[in-house]
Amino acid sequence: MNHDVSAHSVQEDRRIAITWGDGVVSRFHFVWLRQQHFHPATGRADQEPGAPLRLPDDPDDLIVGDCAIEDGCLMVRWANDEAVTRHDLAWLRRNAYDRDLRLARKVRQQTWTGDEVAVSDWLDWEQVVQDETALYGLFVTLRDSGVARLRGAPTRRDEIRRLADRFGALRNTDFGLIGEIVSKPPEEAGRYANIGSGSAGPLAAHTDEGWRYAPPGINFHLAIENMPGEGGESMLFDGLLAAERLRTSNPEAFAFLSSTPMRFAAERNPQERYYAHGRMIVTDRDGEIVGVRFSDRTLGVQDLDEDQIEPAYRALRAFASEMYADDLVYRHKLQPGECHVFDNHRVLHARSGFDPSEGPRYIQQCSVDREEFHNTYRQLAEKLGHEDDAAMILPNGALG
Ligand SMILES: [Fe+2]
Repeated sequence: MNHDVSAHSVQEDRRIAITWGDGVVSRFHFVWLRQQHFHPATGRADQEPGAPLRLPDDPDDLIVGDCAIEDGCLMVRWANDEAVTRHDLAWLRRNAYDRDLRLARKVRQQTWTGDEVAVSDWLDWEQVVQDETALYGLFVTLRDSGVARLRGAPTRRDEIRRLADRFGALRNTDFGLIGEIVSKPPEEAGRYANIGSGSAGPLAAHTDEGWRYAPPGINFHLAIENMPGEGGESMLFDGLLAAERLRTSNPEAFAFLSSTPMRFAAERNPQERYYAHGRMIVTDRDGEIVGVRFSDRTLGVQDLDEDQIEPAYRALRAFASEMYADDLVYRHKLQPGECHVFDNHRVLHARSGFDPSEGPRYIQQCSVDREEFHNTYRQLAEKLGHEDDAAMILPNGALG
């Protein structure tokens, strides 16, 4: 990214304009620059030790005495209090917030159909676990498409941690750090007897645990064993593509689901009284889709206003129709040592039913929160010299 400067000037609207060597112009508000004078961990350079927390600057109080470009930095002397601030030009360019530059820093999310995933490369488990460049390749794939496939994992219990730990701390749930997806006789299945993944029945497309305020982030499913017969196939669906299609095919449904939180619930046994409201389609301030929360099984009893009930179910039906379009589904029976990794805030998963008497089906799952993954991704991007990747604006996911 170019951070040479060909011109700079102080504007009357309390901004400093910088014309970069490539002709792009960025404008930085005085008050935005002044924030850099206040380091959140240590306070201001001129702040007395023990001083009470201070208010941010009032934009109207700020007066620039003069500014200059020196040694790769913008130097600003403030006439209102004689402070001097120094702003690295490369940093300014990377953080310029002019709309076009900010939009250019947003990650380009790539939608996919089932066929596209079916012909995508399988990554080698050991290579990804042991080699940082290969790991970074996996991170980029997940960043852009929300789904990746790996194979060659040793089929031993808790092997899944060797990969998931590379993403960040495992999320702890009432399943523990690692969940066992295995059909058990009811007397051994405890509170999950015949529920969801603890059953052998088919599971419809869903994101996990939409009944939490913040659902699990990056999901890992690794097969330890899988029975030879029919059924027990894993399915994945790009919720982002379904939502994009809904925006075109049924704008009214899209508007409803992206603006109105619906109620999700888990109350399947005496230990569960989870309720959360969340939008099924989450958009950011630019209107871009950044998350999907969707489940048939844990859609709770709705408490919408009376004039929203029918529109809600119409919209839900329209979204589900897009989700179940023939070309959306990716279908694969995970073989021992194969792993699907997917972004639970975007990608839905499902499973076909199976007959547990035909043999064991044993899959281990775990998850890492998306912010932990993104934090690790940025650190590795920096370490490998991909600074523009590290500065990318990544989607927040299906929150709120
Ligand atoms: Fe699930």
